[in-house]
Amino acid sequence: MSKTSVVILAAGLGTRMKSKMAKVLHRAGGLALIEHVVRTARAVAEPADIVAVVGHQAEAVAQAVEPLGVRTALQAEQKGTGHAVAVARPHLEHAGGLLVVLYGDVPLLSAATVRNLVERHEASGKDATVLTCEIEDPAAYGRIVRDPASGNVAAIVEFKACTEEQKKIREINSGIYCFNADLVWRYIGEIQTDNPAGEYYLTDLVEIFNRNGHTVGAMQVEDFSELLGINNKVELAAMDNFFRARKVRELMLDGVTIERPETVTVDVDVKVGAEVTIESNVRLLGATSIGDESYVGAGSIIENSTIGEAVEILPYSLIAGSEIGGKARLGPFARLRSPNKVGAGCHIGNFVELKNTQMEAGAKANHFAYLGDSSIGSKTNVGAGTIVCNYDGVRKHKTTIGKEAFIGSNSTLVAPIEIGDGVYVAAGSVITESVPEAALALGRARQTVKPGWKPKSPAKNA
Ligand code: UD1
Ligand code: CA
Repeated sequence: MSKTSVVILAAGLGTRMKSKMAKVLHRAGGLALIEHVVRTARAVAEPADIVAVVGHQAEAVAQAVEPLGVRTALQAEQKGTGHAVAVARPHLEHAGGLLVVLYGDVPLLSAATVRNLVERHEASGKDATVLTCEIEDPAAYGRIVRDPASGNVAAIVEFKACTEEQKKIREINSGIYCFNADLVWRYIGEIQTDNPAGEYYLTDLVEIFNRNGHTVGAMQVEDFSELLGINNKVELAAMDNFFRARKVRELMLDGVTIERPETVTVDVDVKVGAEVTIESNVRLLGATSIGDESYVGAGSIIENSTIGEAVEILPYSLIAGSEIGGKARLGPFARLRSPNKVGAGCHIGNFVELKNTQMEAGAKANHFAYLGDSSIGSKTNVGAGTIVCNYDGVRKHKTTIGKEAFIGSNSTLVAPIEIGDGVYVAAGSVITESVPEAALALGRARQTVKPGWKPKSPAKNA
C-alpha cells in the first residue's frame, strides 16, 4: 500500500441537530461520531498522517481528536468541501502517495471498506476513485455521471445542478474518495464557485481531472448504511441503536448471556469475559471490563471499571472508576464513586457508598454505610450504618482500619483516624481518637434504666 494520508471533513455545525455542539461531537455507541471516523481512518493511515478539518466548535473538536494523535486544520468559514480540503493542504501537500477524504459525520463506514477502496484504487492505476452506491431513492445526493465508453466517472453533478435526465441516475456520490495526492494539490486551486450555493465543490475535481487527462474510477459499496450521515437527533438515536445492537450481538455470539438485549447499553470498548450473565437495563460504559463468570444484575451501571472473575453485582448498583477483585459481591443498590479498589471476596451490600476507598480481601460492609478516603484491612467487618466523617468542611481526611477488625453498627469514625488490627468498636460509638490494635473502643453514653418510672401528671391549673 502506498503511503496514505487522510483528511476528515468536520467543520460543519449541522444546523438540524439544533445544538450548540458541533455535529461530529455528538455521541453514538459511546464515542463521538468523529472518534469512530478516526478509528476507521487508522485502517489506512498513521495518526500523524490524519488531518481533521475543524470549524464550528473548532477547539472542542480538536480536543476530541488531538489525544488520538490526529492533527487539525482550521476552516474558519465553511466555503464548501473543496475549500475544506484546501485548508488541510499545508499539513499534507508534501506527503505524496494517496489522499483519502472521509466525513466526520459518517461513523458506520467500516475499516474494511476504506482499506478496500485504497487497494482497489491502487490496483486500478486510476488517479482518483470515488466511493459510490446505487440506491432506490437517490434523493439530494450528488449523481455519478459515467463515461459511456470507458465506464469511468466523467463528473459528479450536485443535485441542484442536475438535469431531469441526471436526476434519474441512481448511483450516488458518498463524498468519500481516494486520490493520488499530488494531483489534488496540483488542481485544487482550479475549483470555482460558479454554482447555486456559491461554494467550492470538491466534486468539481472529477471534471477537472478528466479535462486534464486523468482518470477517475468508482468503487460501489453494497451496504448503503455504511455511508449514512447524521443530520438530526432522530438519526443520531438510530445510529446509537445500531452500534448498541451490534455490540450486544457480538457479545452474545461470544457466549455472554444477555437478558432483553435491546435494553442493554454497552460501549464499543467494553470487554466481557466468558460465561458472564447480564440482566436487563444494564449499562456498561467507557473502559470497562468484566471477568469470566461474573453476573451483572438488572439496572446496574458500570463505568471505567475493572471487574474480576465470578463477581456478583446485584441489581441497581452504580460502579465508577473501581477495581473489583474476584468473587466479590456488591449490591443491590451499592454505589462506588471513583476511585476504589475492592479486594477479592469482599462484600459491599445495599446502600453502601464508597469513594476513594481500598478494601482488602474478604472485608465486608453489608448494609448502609459511607466509606470515603478509607483503607480497610482484610476480613474486617464494617457494621450497618457506619459512617466515616472524612470531611471537616474544608479538607478531606483519611481513615485507616486494620485487618480483622469489627466496627459495630451505627459507628461514626471521625477522620483523620487509625483503627488497629483486630479492634472492636462498640455499636453506636463516635470514635474521635485512634485505637491501637486488639483494643475495645467505646464512645457513647452508658445506658441508664429507671425502674418503675412514670411520666409526671400534667400540672393542674396550668
Ligand atoms: C456532499 C457532496 C455530494 C455527496 C454528499 C454525500 C460536495 C459538493 N457534495 O454534499 O456530492 O452526495 O456530500 O453526503 O462535496 N464540510 C466542511 N466544510 C465545508 C463544507 C462541508 O468541513 O465548508 C464537511 C461537513 O461538515 C460534512 C461534509 O463536509 O461533514 C459534507 O458536507 P455537506 O455540506 O453535508 O455536503 P453535501 O451538501 O451533503
Ligand atoms: Ca451531507
